[in-house]
Amino acid sequence: MCDTKRSAMTRQSSAQRKGLRMPVLRSAFIALSRNRSLRRFCEQSKIGSRLSSRFIAGTEILDALRVAESVNRQGMSVTLDSLGESVTSDLEAHRAAEIYHQLLDTIHARKLDANISVKLTQMGLEHSPQLAEKIALSLAQHARSTANFVRIDMEDSNLTQITLDIVRRLNARPETKGAIGVVIQAYLYRSQADIEQLLADGIRIRLCKGAYKEPPEVAFPRKSQVDENFVLLSKLLLDSSVFHGIATHDEAMVAAAKAYAKEQGIAPSHFEFQMLYGVRRDLQRQLVKDGFRVRVYVPFGHEWYPYFMRRLAERPANVIFLLKNFFRA
Ligand code: FDA
Repeated sequence: MCDTKRSAMTRQSSAQRKGLRMPVLRSAFIALSRNRSLRRFCEQSKIGSRLSSRFIAGTEILDALRVAESVNRQGMSVTLDSLGESVTSDLEAHRAAEIYHQLLDTIHARKLDANISVKLTQMGLEHSPQLAEKIALSLAQHARSTANFVRIDMEDSNLTQITLDIVRRLNARPETKGAIGVVIQAYLYRSQADIEQLLADGIRIRLCKGAYKEPPEVAFPRKSQVDENFVLLSKLLLDSSVFHGIATHDEAMVAAAKAYAKEQGIAPSHFEFQMLYGVRRDLQRQLVKDGFRVRVYVPFGHEWYPYFMRRLAERPANVIFLLKNFFRA
């Protein structure tokens, strides 16, 4: 066999092996994200906090504000996420909401270019949907009164419908119209229909690929299918008259959105790219340099473990990267 053919086969089989390994690692990290003992250990250990600092601003509100100011100085907007999900009591939900109210006041007082990203399960969705909706309403009212905006993050597919229902009901109220938006995940089959409905209501959307483990009955199983749907859905967002966010670190997705906007004469001020704190900082800076709007999602808080594990699931190579930096520091 000639060398080029052999090396092509070697390359192919190593790529195939890698292709097989990645979903396994992804599932392993997602499973670990639900492991309570490991979570307790990591969240309380100094090593855990140091390892996670690449993706998490810190544990306190002041840490988040410091990072937000620094990101703003680099010409980018921010969305602040007070980490936490799946609370099981009214008290926990109210405590979580209080942090967001404080954030809205501080963003206003310090004139930061920042809004907030909220998970409804942190506001009690699985424990009392009525409470979660009431809290989301009060946050949206507060945001409206300070000329700000609340983004409702999207969680796993069992919660998609109820999350969209709540956002649509709140956006239908005159006092919160326009102050609340939602996230759509390109990996779900239902997303195109959801986007069409949300656009009819004029609701702002953040489009992402989706970070949870979903069965093939509800989500595209292959990355190429998710990517194809992401491009299709971003075009729907770019074509609409509402301001939306294209949330991805995937250069191919970014390039496709940029090319479509250029082709259709859509101004860069008409939409924004969104990326996570600590991920593809080079691409974030380049987009700003090229005249695009970028918003950085800045998470903070004591309950950083599930968020951190989802970031490792997206890119298992991060483990090696983080460990290298840890021992270098
Ligand atoms: P993909 O995973 O295909 O990665 C493409 C490339 O990006 C990789 O090859 C790598 O170079 C880089 N990259 C991606 N992730 C990385 C990481 N963790 N570390 C280093 N490099 C990385 N999901 C959800 O279900 N609900 C939500 O509400 C949100 N909200 C949200 C907000 C914002 C601002 C962003 C950017 C993302 C989300 N997500 C989310 C997460 C999203 O669904 C998705 O899991 C990640 O963004 C990873 O997908 P990419 O589009 O980056 O592509």
